[in-house]
Formats: sequence, structure tokens, C-alpha cells
Amino acid sequence: MLNDAERVLISEEELHSVVKELGAKITEDYRGKNLLLISVLKGAVVFMTDLMREIKIPLTIDFMATSSYEGAHSTGVVKIVKDLDRDIENMDVLIVEDILDSGRTLSYITSILLKRNPASLKICTLLDKPKARVIDSVVPDYVGAVIEDEFVIGYGLDYDEKYRNLPFIAILKREIYENNSKE
Ligand code: IMP
Ligand code: MG
Repeated sequence: MLNDAERVLISEEELHSVVKELGAKITEDYRGKNLLLISVLKGAVVFMTDLMREIKIPLTIDFMATSSYEGAHSTGVVKIVKDLDRDIENMDVLIVEDILDSGRTLSYITSILLKRNPASLKICTLLDKPKARVIDSVVPDYVGAVIEDEFVIGYGLDYDEKYRNLPFIAILKREIYENNSKE
């Protein structure tokens, strides 16, 4: 598994301090509000479970699943595979994402959630790849780290469902996804 990584981009220790800092900011910003964290399965689960423990105010969580990626190249088609369990009206919704890439997933999710009348809707993404953005209207409110347009794995992020359990973020060797390209 480690042989498939080009190099570590964000270490376990760095991730811990990034997440702690985000948690502290969110704690201050959402004091007295009805905070609902919505995580986009499956990639954001590792980040979500760490982040929620760094938020020191009451909150609830829910999950949503979309599909848009096959291998390392976006198909451009996003669909809901699993919807939320509860109504979000009057909730202060914070979408927790692993990575913001083209912006298609978050643009689709925010447009759906806005129709359900939340009290507020913001985006927290661990990683942001601004150079890969296709939909410019998606602007994250909280960003853990800005990265170059490279394919990363670990800490929840996968390539073909693998590598999610790596405790750090690494750049995937190009040969791994170029040899396996499905496009
Ligand atoms: P977007 O819709 O293009 O913004 O893509 C968002 C989704 O694509 C993320 O939630 C990830 O699941 C996946 N994705 C984008 N870039 C990467 C990457 O570098 N590594 C792993 N997954 C990625
Ligand atoms: Mg994802």
C-alpha cells in the first residue's frame, strides 16, 4: 500500500493540528446555533469523526452519499445514492467534505440542501484543489489545506476504494492510475 504513494503530503501530526484549528473556529462560529454536520460518504468520514471531537458545542450529524468518480477521473455526473435521515429546516448546516475538486459534487449537494430551507448552509472541506475547479460558484467557508492539482489518497480518500485507512495524506503515484485509466 505504501509503495503506491509518491510521497506524504500532509503527515498525521499536521492533520491533527489542522483539524484541531478548524474545530476551534467552528466552535466559536456556531455557539448558540443548531449545528448539524453533514458528511459526504465515504471519503469524508475519517475527517468528520476527528473534526466532530474538536468541536466543543452540542451538534448532530447526518450522512449523505453521492457518486461522481470512477477511478482518478471525474465522470461529471453526480447523483444521490443515500439521502439524509432527517429534515434540515431551521438547522445550521455545515457540509463536511474531504476534498473540493471540480466543485460538481458540492454544487449539486448545496443546491439540493438549499431547497430544504436550512437556517444556514456552509462548507467545510479538509482539502481544496482550486486549480481543478470547474464550477467557480462553489466557495468553501472553512478549508484545512490548499493543495496542487494532484491525486491524493489516505485519511478517508481513496483510489478505487483503496488507501482510505492510511493515517496521512499522500500523493498517489501517477503510474497507478494512468495504467488503470477507465476513460
Ligand atoms: P468534485 O465533485 O470534482 O469536486 O469531486 C469531489 C469528490 O471527488 C471528492 O469528494 C472525492 O471523493 C473525489 N476526489 C477528488 N479529488 C480527489 C483526489 O485527489 N483523491 C481522491 N478523491 C478525490
Ligand atoms: Mg467524497
